[in-house]
Amino acid sequence: MIDINVLNAVTYGVYVITAANNGKYGGFIANTVMQVTADTVKFSVVCSKNNASTTMIAESGKFNVSILHSYTSQTLISNFGYHSSREVNKFENIKYIIAPNDVPVVTEDSIAWIECEVEEQVDLCSHIMFIGKMTGGEMINDKAKPMTYDYYHDTFKAKSPKNAPTYQGNDTPSAKSDSQAKPSDPPAKYECTVCGYIYDPLQGDPDNGIAPGTRFEDIPDTWTCPMCGVGKSDFRKI
Ligand SMILES: Cc1cc2nc3c(=O)[nH]c(=O)nc-3n(C[C@H](O)[C@H](O)[C@H](O)COP(=O)(O)O)c2cc1C
Repeated sequence: MIDINVLNAVTYGVYVITAANNGKYGGFIANTVMQVTADTVKFSVVCSKNNASTTMIAESGKFNVSILHSYTSQTLISNFGYHSSREVNKFENIKYIIAPNDVPVVTEDSIAWIECEVEEQVDLCSHIMFIGKMTGGEMINDKAKPMTYDYYHDTFKAKSPKNAPTYQGNDTPSAKSDSQAKPSDPPAKYECTVCGYIYDPLQGDPDNGIAPGTRFEDIPDTWTCPMCGVGKSDFRKI
């Protein structure tokens, strides 16, 4: 018997992994970064074979890591975690530098960065684990606290997308039907079926012009999920 709740008790940080190949830049959010040795400092990261950035890392033999701070913006997470470098230029509107290994490093919302040279690749079927030797790194902000995976879930009310090794599907208990709902019930929350973002009418989505207290039904049809960008029709009542 496996109790799935055990998986939620494992802790992680939240990072941006960056890559460069053939003049193009890629990057994605990962929670699976870990220091694996100390005498030569090495880091591992587990990357989906579906990620555009994974091919870049495999071909170039290099990756960089930005350690995100706890008040990282939803926009940055959405940009790097829910869109593909195949379709968008993720570096267009964010602060970054080019590290000595010629790979970009996201400095926005970051505490520190690490530069790695790939030494080993472990094929995990759906994912590749890269083990890289640390070749450089700098602190950006030694006052801020790193974002934890738990904090990410609490703050953004979102789950991890399919490519994340810790993806758990999007099964949520079904909603009360309208006939079951009592007039005194608070307005219903809605969940994005693509990324798991939860729209809570009590909080609204002020960053995107939706005032606290707005029922989901009253949001304009032009509104899109602030996390992954899909429309209202991809939401379901929870
Ligand atoms: C919180 C969070 C954690 C994630 N962790 C990983 C991870 O460890 N490995 C991975 O391959 N993808 C992970 N992802 C998914 C990638 O960030 C996502 O698939 C991204 O769009 C891939 O971008 P790319 O195609 O430009 O490389 C995670 C996403 C989020 C939001």
